[in-house]
Amino acid sequence: MSTAYLQCIEERCGRPQDPKKDLQACAFCGGLLEVKYEFEEFNPEEMRRAWHQRRLSGEPIDRSGVWRFRELIPFLEPGDRIISLSEGSTPLVGTRRAGWWAGPVHLTIKHQGNNPTGSFKDLGMTACITRAASRGVRRVGCASTGNTSASMAAYAARAGMKALLFVPYRQISAAKLAQALDYGALVVEVGDTFDEAFRLLREIAPELDLYLVNSLNPFRIEGQKTIVAEMLEQRAWRPPDYIVVPGGNLGNSSAIGKGLRELKELGLIEKVPRVVVVQAAGANPFYQMMTSGANELTPVERPDTQATAIRIGHPANWKKAQRVLEWTGGFVECVTDEEIFEAKAMLAEDGVGCEPASASTVAGVRKLVRAGRIPWHADIVCVLTGNQLKDTEYIMRHRSESQESRQRLRVEPDLDALRKALDVALGVPA
Ligand code: F0G
Repeated sequence: MSTAYLQCIEERCGRPQDPKKDLQACAFCGGLLEVKYEFEEFNPEEMRRAWHQRRLSGEPIDRSGVWRFRELIPFLEPGDRIISLSEGSTPLVGTRRAGWWAGPVHLTIKHQGNNPTGSFKDLGMTACITRAASRGVRRVGCASTGNTSASMAAYAARAGMKALLFVPYRQISAAKLAQALDYGALVVEVGDTFDEAFRLLREIAPELDLYLVNSLNPFRIEGQKTIVAEMLEQRAWRPPDYIVVPGGNLGNSSAIGKGLRELKELGLIEKVPRVVVVQAAGANPFYQMMTSGANELTPVERPDTQATAIRIGHPANWKKAQRVLEWTGGFVECVTDEEIFEAKAMLAEDGVGCEPASASTVAGVRKLVRAGRIPWHADIVCVLTGNQLKDTEYIMRHRSESQESRQRLRVEPDLDALRKALDVALGVPA
């Protein structure tokens, strides 16, 4: 058995925490916490083979793309029940047009939208709700721009827990709200921004005996980090040059960085890809901090972007993400809503759909290649974080009149009328 404990990430503190409590912040200095392990010794070659072998297994624990790599997240205690919806095992697909448009680069997509609730959050949620269940938790809570809440609602339902979620009023997509309601969660619409909803949730949580599952919860990060093992396995353990992710609360970039670091320490990879974070221009506090050389993050008070998933002005995990960029030699970029829209359209031409926040990655690559910061023909994996159907209002809103007239016909239910309309639309002479 490996041993797991929580430790403060602050250099000046770094203290381990009371193992009986799942804290969200260091009990001594208030710093961010992470899960630390003393990993059991293992032979990388044998481990890879065992993980590969489990793909043939029918056991739920092996069918999950998170728990298949359980040696990387050894925090389970004997008798713990795993709360899984068969998350992970998402596709890695090549692109042609999008890679050409963004570079030319070798652009591959890791599509996390193919998860049970349609986003990458499910990887973290299986780990976090499993942990909560092992602690006897009855009530879980989160603040969210929509995906965390949908995911939490599903996993809480499966674990038989009450789910309470705080979302900014009228700021999340209808599909995400519908998911949470469908899974039976209690939805509290409060404040105008994610940051406000999150602040209120953190203040009230102790009174309600709520176990919080936002990405400040280090066990969320543990589940999310397994994406790198799965991605590398799909690439026959050849690391790409860059892994690009959208940045909101900066949990995902933190998780990917931690995952890479541990894989290197465990001898599973030699080269570490650079992690690139892309933010929306109207919600870019991390970009501003990193490019100005400041040591502290200044929140963006009124974050503004149509990519609602990443409309966040005060990302909780910025210190972890900053370390990840340092460890991996990565960087941060930001892109406008127009650039996101264009990138999403290019991905669609490759038959790849995603929600707007996810497309920011490809927009960011294009900008970085044009600026000479990413070389031509670089080997790049963009993580598409959410499914296309998460935000259909966005798609419908952005359709131009000419697209509508070319693509959408309203025809009388009459064969002659149909023929005529189709002849025109398909360009067949009448
Ligand atoms: N992409 C999507 C689709 C998201 O839903 C989020 C975050 C991100 C990217 C950014 O990831 O926060 O780890 O940097 N959504 C959170 C939520 C905040 O509440 O669903 P991050």
